[in-house]
Amino acid sequence: MSERVYNFSAGPGVLPEAVLKKAAEQMMNYEGSGMSVMEMSHRSKVYQSIIDGAEKSLRELMNIPANYKVLFLQGGASLQFAMVPLNFMKNNKADYINTGEWSTKAIKEAQRFGDVKVVASSEAEVFNHLPVVNENEFRADADYVHMTSNNTIFGTSWKKYPNVKGKPLVVDMSSDILSKVIDVNDYAMIYAGAQKNIGPAGVTVVIIREDLVEYSRPETPTMLKYKTHVDGASMFNTPPTYGIYIAKLGFEYLQSIGGVPAIEKINNRKAAMLYEVLDNSKLFKCHVQNKEDRSIMNIPFRTASDDLDKKFLADAAKEGLVTLSGHKKTGGMRASVYNAMPIEGVEKLVAFIKKFDKEN
Ligand SMILES: Cc1ncc(COP(=O)(O)O)c(C=O)c1O
Repeated sequence: MSERVYNFSAGPGVLPEAVLKKAAEQMMNYEGSGMSVMEMSHRSKVYQSIIDGAEKSLRELMNIPANYKVLFLQGGASLQFAMVPLNFMKNNKADYINTGEWSTKAIKEAQRFGDVKVVASSEAEVFNHLPVVNENEFRADADYVHMTSNNTIFGTSWKKYPNVKGKPLVVDMSSDILSKVIDVNDYAMIYAGAQKNIGPAGVTVVIIREDLVEYSRPETPTMLKYKTHVDGASMFNTPPTYGIYIAKLGFEYLQSIGGVPAIEKINNRKAAMLYEVLDNSKLFKCHVQNKEDRSIMNIPFRTASDDLDKKFLADAAKEGLVTLSGHKKTGGMRASVYNAMPIEGVEKLVAFIKKFDKEN
């Protein structure tokens, strides 16, 4: 490929071109420092201004209240599957909702530490819808409720959360953070791996309500306590410095185009275009049929034939529409249309789907 492609990867995913260009410009000499951000001490004044700037922009974008801490950690969203029970399980009880592969992994990890109740699950139907949650099933003595906001593999997402009756709600937002307006006050903690809607892999954003920071189970290693990272302002040890810098550029870029409300409109439009062409085709079928359960970030779909799916993927790649293969659990295709996927990429994919539909 001599030109950039439209990359529909589920993650690490596409980044805004403006961010990549700015990073390229600043690669050799960041703002007159005479060095690359990668070469800089995290204890330097200039790096402090980068991490402070990243936090400031994220706070503005998500309207994060003052009583929430923002952390830039490592270990991916997967490490949060362990940190959450280690820091929140006081009564050894937690309630989880199982809506996909990542929820299942979070549940398995929490089961290592205490009594986990799966309050609702759509596993029996390959997670092709969101389960009905009977709110009376939440336990009065559970320490928290854990959910996944957007199910990257199966393509469902919560528009409205169940009433967790005042329990701390902990949500994995890895694949839809910053894609739509939310009220941070509704959550005790939000976490997200950066590599979909924020920046490069290696950074995990945690947004945690202050009062939840103090406790951790006695066996918790120092590095896995939220308090360690709050006290160290994400600098207890060397943070993923370059990743945080790219995240900052991404946040600033999102601010420059109108912030989350503006990108939400674009995201809704991109997803609507894809669902429309797929729903109007006899050849293709979306994994998620319930319209109200559908994700605007990840759209799995397929034909009735594995061979035709393979042909679709091969032909699409020739057109510069790449990384469209579905996860092995769903087969077929998946279009991940994160914030940085330009509308032109979706238009090109829609035109390709129409053409393939006609010809096959
Ligand atoms: C919703 C969700 N949670 C967790 C993960 C795991 O993230 P990581 O690889 O950063 O541990 C992913 C990765 O795709 C994801 O989509």
